[in-house]
Amino acid sequence: MAQVLSSIRVEPIDRLRRLRRTEGLRALAREISLTPEDFIYPLFVRPGRNVREPISSMPGQFRLTVDRLEAEVEEIVRLGIRAVLLFGLAERKDPEAREAWEENGLVPQAVRRIKAIAPELVVITDVCVCAYTDHGHCGIVRDGQVDNDATLALLARMALAHAAAGADLVAPSAMMDGQVRAIREALDEASFVDVGIMAYSAKFASAFYGPFREAADSAPRFGDRRSYQMDPPNAREALREIERDIAQGADIIMVKPALAYLDVIRRARERFDHPLAAYNVSGEYSMVKAAAQMGWLDEERAVMEILIAIKRAGADRIITYFAKEAARWLRR
Ligand code: PBG
Repeated sequence: MAQVLSSIRVEPIDRLRRLRRTEGLRALAREISLTPEDFIYPLFVRPGRNVREPISSMPGQFRLTVDRLEAEVEEIVRLGIRAVLLFGLAERKDPEAREAWEENGLVPQAVRRIKAIAPELVVITDVCVCAYTDHGHCGIVRDGQVDNDATLALLARMALAHAAAGADLVAPSAMMDGQVRAIREALDEASFVDVGIMAYSAKFASAFYGPFREAADSAPRFGDRRSYQMDPPNAREALREIERDIAQGADIIMVKPALAYLDVIRRARERFDHPLAAYNVSGEYSMVKAAAQMGWLDEERAVMEILIAIKRAGADRIITYFAKEAARWLRR
């Protein structure tokens, strides 16, 4: 027996554990790392005054009134996060989403406020009407269907309102065909030539948006979003969506959600040279929070592993509700 054991040999070249022995060696061998600059932090803005309302489906996230943005924005900047993505909640909903494109609507007010507090913070605004329509769909509904072309003018007007308020980038997420071109042309016509577009290019019809729809009160009142958001099995179609958005003028492309679509992120990275964002969506956040609250997994380790995986797959930037916590962990 002793003879058998001593005859087991490891070739020197097979000793990959050498570089795992200490934290210093592991750091030396590490292929990629995260920084707070990788993160884009989503913010929910709600009507009213002096409210910071917890979002029950997303522990640790809040709906803020414009007058409560200051402390939040200062904290974000202090943590080294360079960009936020704004979502507005409606006060009144109607079939045409009128509030979505008001020049002095909630999101334009929030943009002006944030730019006054932190001019250097990049402000990106979500451009979609689902939180503002009474039926909860991402466009104009005609005969029970979302009318693609009729919706484009709404999205363009909404983008213009955000641009006029000082948004750096607008982020169309309605998944209407031609939305990037419609917005690019409207922006250029109004001389907002420097306002860019971060396109939700490959956005899948996902169960992982559930907690967000409670947060933004944007769930469809009938049917679902499968006639405009993408069918989860389709990776090649995702590349076609991205290709079309680039042709229409997208500055930054996006894959959403992230975790169940890491292969799509990888393929997009290999095919296109545009900056690539991935959206680590609400359901991906809340399931980690829930498991951590139950004591079933180590939250910090799970979050960092997820964020690294998204970057390793090929994302340049990650839109994530974990941004502030992750930035804090990275600073330690
Ligand atoms: C708007 C929009 C949604 C999300 C971002 N923009 C919801 C949806 O498409 O239903 C989801 C974000 C998240 O789940 O974190 N259309």
